[in-house]
This record gives sequence, C-alpha cells and structure tokens, in this order.
Amino acid sequence: MSLPLVLDCDPGTDDALALFLALASPELDVLAITVAGGNVGLDRTLPNALALRSLTGRDIPVYAGADRPLLGSFASATRVHGIDGLGGIALPLGRPAEQEHAADAIRRIVRTAKAPITLVGIAPVTNFALALMTEPSIAANVEQIVLMSGAWGEGNATPAAEFNAVSDPEALAVVLACGRPIVIATLEVATQALCTPQHLADMRASGVGRCLRAACDIQGSVPFSRRLGGTGAALYDPIALAWLVRPDLFTTRPAQVTMDLGPGPCRGRTVIDRWGRTDQPANATVLETIDAEGFFALLTERFNCLP
Ligand code: BDR
Ligand code: CA
Repeated sequence: MSLPLVLDCDPGTDDALALFLALASPELDVLAITVAGGNVGLDRTLPNALALRSLTGRDIPVYAGADRPLLGSFASATRVHGIDGLGGIALPLGRPAEQEHAADAIRRIVRTAKAPITLVGIAPVTNFALALMTEPSIAANVEQIVLMSGAWGEGNATPAAEFNAVSDPEALAVVLACGRPIVIATLEVATQALCTPQHLADMRASGVGRCLRAACDIQGSVPFSRRLGGTGAALYDPIALAWLVRPDLFTTRPAQVTMDLGPGPCRGRTVIDRWGRTDQPANATVLETIDAEGFFALLTERFNCLP
C-alpha cells in the first residue's frame, strides 16, 4: 500500500526534482500539491507547480496557498533559483489550479481521510500552520510531518538560519508544537549529497524522457555555493521525499527542535538539541547521514519512470 500524503512546495529548482521524485514513486500516493510563496513569489511558484505536474502527466490537484509568512514580510531566493524559480527553464503550463485555498484543502483532506495523512513540507510551512491553527483537531489524523527545514549549525539564508525556517519561523514553531511525529532533513544532511557535474552528466545520459531532461536542465541552472566549497549544488528538497521512499539510505537521531523567534540576528534558527543537553523530550527525528550515491541512483531510476 502506498503512503497517502500532501506535498507542500515552492518550486523552486530543488522542489521540481522533489516533485518528480514524489510523482514517480509508487510507494507514495500524492493526494494534493499545495503551493506557497518562497523561493519566488506565489505568482511564480504556482505556475511552476502546475507546469511540473503537467510534465509528469499525472492529474494531481494543485492548490494555491499563502503568498507571505504569518508575520513579517516576504523575501525570495532568486539568486539560487532564478527570477522565474526554475532557473529560466520554460515549461508548458497545463491545466489551472483548483479554486480551494491550500490550507482549506489540507484541512479537508486530512479531516476526511480514512487513513492518517503524511504532510511533506519543502517550503516555508505557512500552509500547514494555517491548517493546524484553524482546525487543531486535524492533527489527530496526521501520521507524520516530514520537512526540509532548518540546520543544526550554520544557516544558508542568514548566518544563523536556513531559508525555509527563516521565511516563516512562527509557522514552523506551530508545526513543531503540533504533537505529531516530525522528521527533519536539515542543510547538513543535504550537503552530504552535493550534485556534481558528473552526477548530472550521468543522470542526463541515463535516459531520454522529458521529465529527466527537465530535471537535469533545472538542476544544471543552480549556481554552486561558496559555502559548500564550489564543487556541486545541494539538492535539499528531494531528500525529504527520499526518506519516505528509501529510509535505509539514512541514519537518524531523535532531538528536541525549537525555534528562535526573537527579532535579532538568530531569528529563524532551528535550535536542534542533538546531544540531549536540555533534557527536554525529543519532538523530532533528525536525518543525520545519507548514502549519497544511493540517493543519486534512486533519483536517476525514478526520473526514468516518468514520461
Ligand atoms: C530550502 O530553501 C529553498 O531555497 C529550497 O527550495 C529548499 O526548500 C533549502 O534551504
Ligand atoms: Ca523548497
């Protein structure tokens, strides 16, 4: 039986590859794709999600959600993802989004599901927070929440904070406190699996499908970061999906995760107590290590299952 889930995203170059991995994996039953502003504005992330969905040929409903965080103002990440969010790779749009708001759709889907639903968040988690805040009882029918978010060390958006976390820290605090099992893929696990030019060349040579080609073109547009040594680009979001498909590729650690919600330079930092220094009970499972070559083999195999 495949795992019923809602995928919340902000495509976003790495979101694109995560979406392809999710839709190519028979282990996962993607009930809905919900979209937030994040890497670029919602006016771009929504058409990007629609175009990516359409390229896969899968008719999964797509819902537009929050275009800004619960508090504060919206900030994008165009330096990494390009002004259009997909590194300038133009794709046909496909059919439009559903009319329902993403947060309403999440609440309806979770409330009415026969089996508990997994929520996968690879964007600022505003849509999940809105759903949980406006109908807290849905948490009882959430199986787990799997996030790409945060860092136990240095950030990528600020010295202290990772992009998704700092883009809506209050929303992440709401999700972390909801009482359901949380799994977090942080920057650190992603940077163990840098996508090098060789990985990309091998992937490109593995097939001829339009999704494989789009994935390689999109990932090829991502600039290498100085922070990561300039040898490759991290593939953050697909790691959260890979955990659901191939948990054997990872080692994990239970930890207490809290948010720095202060106004200072550490705002948005995920404080991850990996060594139990606070004596507080763990509220999350943190992915600690990844088998990088196994991960790239999985991506390559699955992208070749798509048209
Ligand atoms: C996360 O931030 C976004 O830029 C990426 O899509 C990913 O979700 C990495 O920090
Ligand atoms: Ca993302």
